[in-house]
Amino acid sequence: MTMRNQGGYDEGYKFCPCFWGSEPGSYVQKLLTKLSGCTDLLVLDAGCGEGKNAAFLSKMGARVQAVDISGVALAHARILHSDVDVEWMEGDISDCLLAAQYDVVISYGLYHCLPSMAHILALHERLASSTKAGGYHVICSFNDRDHDLSAHPGFEPCLLPHKFYVDLYQDWHVEALSDETLHEEHPHNKIPHHHSLTRILARKPL
Ligand SMILES: C[S@@+](CC[C@H](N)C(=O)[O-])C[C@H]1O[C@@H](n2cnc3c(N)ncnc32)[C@H](O)[C@@H]1O
Repeated sequence: MTMRNQGGYDEGYKFCPCFWGSEPGSYVQKLLTKLSGCTDLLVLDAGCGEGKNAAFLSKMGARVQAVDISGVALAHARILHSDVDVEWMEGDISDCLLAAQYDVVISYGLYHCLPSMAHILALHERLASSTKAGGYHVICSFNDRDHDLSAHPGFEPCLLPHKFYVDLYQDWHVEALSDETLHEEHPHNKIPHHHSLTRILARKPL
């Protein structure tokens, strides 16, 4: 597997056991305001990293399956979240059998790690058809506005327009949407940098 295919995050995961922190993503928190509760909801966290979103939803009562291509990230997830009952799975999400119909699919930071627009479209179609009517998608991805990639040497993310992601959900109810610049630094190299991020919370029609 090349660095391009998985985002090159393993260097950071090896350095720090909680690379992405423990707070759930802002759009995962937004999702909660749309739900009457999480009990027994079936959730897929695609590209879960160390599982901050998966563990949060599991603690709220959801049944969560979480997939990541990085065995290092998942080893950390199992230790960090040993108190929750998430089903952690190692593998390329594009090859995973999605047998279930999910109430919620989270894809936080995954799409821009995929090799091409065709891979993203194919995965989106599989995730959409594996989502129940009335179910939700929460996505966060780099878009093609400005980035400083100096903190991610060797990483060539797939950068697509914000509109590309909005158009994926043209037949869904878009509950929240943003195109924002994120300024951050990572624990392993502490290089201040920024990314342009599309975030979407969308509901599949009933
Ligand atoms: C930006 S990180 C975000 C991690 C986590 N979702 C979070 O928000 O903290 C993207 C994650 O996607 C994973 N990833 C990249 N390509 C993948 C693939 N093809 N299948 C499964 N996971 C993948 C990476 O290993 C990495 O953990």
